[in-house]
Amino acid sequence: MKLSTFLAPALLAFGFVPATLAAKSFSASNLYYAAGLTEDQQATLFEGLQSAGVKVLRVWLDGQSGNTKGTEINDFGALEAETPGVWDDTVLNRLDDVMANAHGYGIKLLISIHSYNALDTKADVYGNWYGTGDFYTNTDAIGYFKRRIDHVLSHVNPHNNKPWSESSEYIFAIEAQNEAMHGQENVSALEAWQCNMAEEIKNGLKGSTDILISTGGGAWLDNSLLDSYFNCDALDVLAIHAYGIGDFETSKLKPYVKRAQDAGKMLIMQEWGACYTDASNNDCNGGTPLDAGTRDINIKAWAAKISAAGIPSFYWQILPNPDPHHGWDYEVGINDVNWDALREASVAAGNTEAAFDFGHWLL
Ligand SMILES: *[C@@H]1O[C@H](CO)[C@@H](O)[C@H](O)[C@H]1NC(C)=O
Repeated sequence: MKLSTFLAPALLAFGFVPATLAAKSFSASNLYYAAGLTEDQQATLFEGLQSAGVKVLRVWLDGQSGNTKGTEINDFGALEAETPGVWDDTVLNRLDDVMANAHGYGIKLLISIHSYNALDTKADVYGNWYGTGDFYTNTDAIGYFKRRIDHVLSHVNPHNNKPWSESSEYIFAIEAQNEAMHGQENVSALEAWQCNMAEEIKNGLKGSTDILISTGGGAWLDNSLLDSYFNCDALDVLAIHAYGIGDFETSKLKPYVKRAQDAGKMLIMQEWGACYTDASNNDCNGGTPLDAGTRDINIKAWAAKISAAGIPSFYWQILPNPDPHHGWDYEVGINDVNWDALREASVAAGNTEAAFDFGHWLL
């Protein structure tokens, strides 16, 4: 990209603009429990992701333990388990190593500072004290959560001796929460919270624009992209989560692309997946396994539709082990069934033309 910029005036003088000047898209994936991976599991994951052209891995900070999606992880606790401001930094320390390791494979992290799931399952102090309702409106909860954002951004990584807020070589973007207020019971409160927390992240970045500020998506396309997000100055990236196949349609995505471009925002398909079974794709729980060839076709076709809208996509999820086929079964294991199709779809996605130029924020 940088080379093309220098070549541009000369080429324009000959009266044409080669297609190679257009911004390339990128592909990415999710592994919410990456902080629990051993070195061997990380090597398997990152070698596989690199072979699929993946440039960004999205991770969460919630505690996790035991066998998770077939991965025997090193347990790690919640960052704030019992009391706000009483930190267990294990997850941050583990991710220090993960992000330094990922860098060697040309991969950065997108970090989600909390998840709605932890509220819903009462997995930490926010879930226990406030739950899914008060969390977004209680003044104390809002204050504690801002302090959490500050704590995460000022955490120093011993691999580069810099706080995460200055570690743009490792971190692609930061979001406040995965699928904030999933049910959107109070949209105005959600909109206010989302922009308020984006501003807190922006304050923590101290004027640097080398790490992007994102939302953590919604439950489907339309409710991932609430009106006010397009007008929130602190937000750079608006994240879509979509599992219903209608939401993968290029024609449904393109109006949002135009709107984002007009508003100076960038879009990512931060979560999408193809169900392992014949259950409805947005309710992939139960059902009969699809034959592998049918799912291969789904993966390639849907990835291509998202790419045709110019939106980079993050698969939910690529595993460093065979998928155990538990409920909510979108995962694909590296070298397991459907891997070749997903890898090819991912490489193809990274070679398509993007509606947004993410080049500055990728390795
Ligand atoms: C929504 O949240 C706001 C605070 O942001 C509050 O004033 C309002 O009463 C809430 N609405 C409902 C229906 O709970």
